[in-house]
Amino acid sequence: MSPEQKAEEFKKKPTHIAVIMDGNGRWAAKRGLPRLAGHQAGTENLRRIITACVEFGIPYLTIYAFSTENWRRPQDEVQGLMHILETVLERELAELHKQGVQLRHIGHLEGLPGNLQEKVRKAVELTRDNTRLTLCVAFNYGGRDEIVCALRQMAAEGLKPEEITEESISAHLFTAGIPDPDLIIRTSGELRTSNFLIWQAAYAEYYPTPLFWPDFDKEALREAILAYGKRERRFGRVSAQES
Ligand code: FPP
Repeated sequence: MSPEQKAEEFKKKPTHIAVIMDGNGRWAAKRGLPRLAGHQAGTENLRRIITACVEFGIPYLTIYAFSTENWRRPQDEVQGLMHILETVLERELAELHKQGVQLRHIGHLEGLPGNLQEKVRKAVELTRDNTRLTLCVAFNYGGRDEIVCALRQMAAEGLKPEEITEESISAHLFTAGIPDPDLIIRTSGELRTSNFLIWQAAYAEYYPTPLFWPDFDKEALREAILAYGKRERRFGRVSAQES
C-alpha cells in the first residue's frame, strides 16, 4: 500500500494523537533487565511509531517523555532519561528533519542541563518549517504547572477579567497553536491521566491498552485509530441519531 492508500484506510482519523508511554520499567523487569533498558526499548519503539504516524497521515503526535514528577525517580534513571533525549537529538534529528517532522518541546526547558537545553532549542529551530508531522515532546512537563504558568503570564500581561477566556488560556499554554488532542493512548493498562494535557484533553477520547510501551507497535496504533473511528464524539451534544 502507498502512504496515501494507508492514510485512506481510516474513515475517521484523529488529527492529534497523544501518548502516555507507560510500562518501560515492567517491560524490562519481565526480562530481568535494568529499567533503563526498558526506556531504550521504548525509544526504539518511538522511532517506529513516529514513522507509522507519518505513514498514516497523522499531523500531530505528542509524547509524554518526562513529567515534572519524574525528578523523584532514582538519580541514575533521571540521568539516563536526560541522556536518551540528548542521544535522540544527536542521532535522529537529521532523519526526523528529512522525514518532514517538526519538533516542539512542551514543558520547562530551564530545568534541564544547559547543553541539553541548547540542543532542544536548535532542534526546534532547525525543524520549525516542517509540516508533515508535528512531534511535541513533553519533557519536564506537568499539566497543572502549565496552567499555572499560563495564568501567571496572563496576569503579567495585565489581561482584564473579561479577556480571560478558554481561547486566551489555550493561547498561553505550552501547546499554543496546536490543536487539542483527539485521542490519548495510555499503554501498560494504567487508567490515570497523570497530569498530562489536563486542559487540552477536555474532549479527548481515551484509549487504554494493556501492552507495555515497547510492545505497542504499528499494528497496535492502527487498532487504536480504528477504535477511535468507531467512537461517537458528542462534545456535550446528544447523539447524532437523536437530533
Ligand atoms: C513510563 O514508564 C515512561 C517514562 C517515564 C519515560 C518514557 C520515555 C521514553 C519512552 C523514552 C523516549 C524519550 C525521549 C526523550 C525521546 P515507566 O518507567 O513508569 O514504566 P513502569 O510503570 O513499568 O515502571
